[in-house]
Amino acid sequence: MSPTPKTPSRDDRAARDAHAAREPSAAPEQRVALVTGSSRGLGRAAALMLAARGHAVAVHYARGEAAAAEVVREIAAAGGNAQAFGADVADPDACADLIKRVAAELGRLDVLVNNAGVTRDTLALRMKREDWETVIDTDLSSAFHLSKAALRGMLRAGWGRIVNVSSVVALMGNVGQANYVAAKAGLIGLTKALAREYAGKGVTVNAVAPGFIESDMTGGLSDELRDAYLKQIPVGRFGRPEEVAAAIAYLVSDDAAYVNGQTLTVDGGMVMP
Ligand SMILES: NC(=O)c1ccc[n+]([C@@H]2O[C@H](COP(=O)([O-])OP(=O)(O)OC[C@H]3O[C@@H](n4cnc5c(N)ncnc54)[C@H](OP(=O)(O)O)[C@@H]3O)[C@@H](O)[C@H]2O)c1
Repeated sequence: MSPTPKTPSRDDRAARDAHAAREPSAAPEQRVALVTGSSRGLGRAAALMLAARGHAVAVHYARGEAAAAEVVREIAAAGGNAQAFGADVADPDACADLIKRVAAELGRLDVLVNNAGVTRDTLALRMKREDWETVIDTDLSSAFHLSKAALRGMLRAGWGRIVNVSSVVALMGNVGQANYVAAKAGLIGLTKALAREYAGKGVTVNAVAPGFIESDMTGGLSDELRDAYLKQIPVGRFGRPEEVAAAIAYLVSDDAAYVNGQTLTVDGGMVMP
């Protein structure tokens, strides 16, 4: 364990100053949420659910601009407020810029859901350095850069919620996913560290660990693999994106104010830690 630094760094001072210059926190119906990777899949379901619960939502995409625009239209049609933002979260500067743009366009940022992710599956001995780096940058480092940028505003408001979308494979390991498992396990560690650093200032940080959920990411599995995975799921089916979205919606709500640093598995009972 490395010692805690004694001299406050520039970032420590920035966090302290942000806390000192407190702005009022938003009423639940005025909160703004950014869900990364919400052009499709789990992120899309989370964006729709948070919008239905009254949040203004920043719908974020990388390549799926048209899909993100469709999510924005769907939210608007239901009477909600949303706007689309593009950014490659594997780029740290783009992460900082994304947070700035969301706060500028939507007025504030109260809730951050770090959901964007990719896989580059292969056995470790065949895994190219690029496969490792792409997954670590997109699935893990992005959550650090985005959280760091978002925390300042949350500390000023004295209220914030961060939810990191991990995976059950972070808890059990998986063949052919050394990069993805490491990234998703890293997210759980990041969740616990941030949860200890900022909960006293009104910002809770939690993770969800979905099991096998019907989405593009799992759509490419062979029938043989699907059957093998199904045998390990006590509920007897794959999950739906809305079932993960419901867990995220709970963790970002006022009801979850005393839940901090936790990883909520949404996996039909596949892993019981
Ligand atoms: N599906 C599952 O069974 C499952 C299980 C456990 C955990 N998860 C996790 O849940 C999250 C969502 O999974 P999903 O199944 O919904 O995935 P998905 O359908 O493949 O969607 C991935 C999302 O991430 C975005 N994204 C990918 N690379 C990006 C980048 N470099 N910059 C910005 N955005 C990027 C995509 O944006 P564009 O489409 O716009 O490019 C898309 O919106 C991921 O973190 C995944 O690891 C999923």
